[in-house]
Amino acid sequence: MERTLVLIKPDGVQRQLVGEILSRFERKGLKIAGMKFIKMSQDLAERHYAVHKGKSFYNDLVSFITSGPVVAMVLEGRMAVKQTRNLMGATRPEESTPGSVRGDLAIFTGQNLVHGSDSDENARAEIANFFNEGELVSYELANKDWIG
Ligand code: RTP
Ligand code: MG
Repeated sequence: MERTLVLIKPDGVQRQLVGEILSRFERKGLKIAGMKFIKMSQDLAERHYAVHKGKSFYNDLVSFITSGPVVAMVLEGRMAVKQTRNLMGATRPEESTPGSVRGDLAIFTGQNLVHGSDSDENARAEIANFFNEGELVSYELANKDWIG
């Protein structure tokens, strides 16, 4: 089973879309392995977005992600990275398909509601930025035999 880091960004919290977004991942069959509601520090934001340092949108991105609380979660399941990215939709809302979080709910790339790790390797590093191993919970979903 694979794990991925998902953030519901400050726009998702401010627009009161936490339940709406979270329910899409739950309905898919992904399991919540960890979750916290935090305001990201400058340091955490810079570590999380280190790969984008130097890009034109980097400063805006860091100031946006630290502008208000976020929900950080670890989701677990078969091909969780790819499944999550599909549910999120393309980075640019005008290119994301209807049915996805961004396709249905976002209109601006700078406020695109969610973050999801883009590879298994990055997921491991991103999860470690946000969670101690002890904060991740190992358990079985009661309906696991019906999800596959
Ligand atoms: P995310 O990291 O948030 O899951 O999004 P992503 O993989 O789809 O997109 P990525 O290329 O990693 O970019 C990270 C975030 O930076 C903002 N962005 N702005 N103005 C721009 O051209 C631009 N490009 C990216 C977006 O908020 C994007 O989610
Ligand atoms: Mg990304």
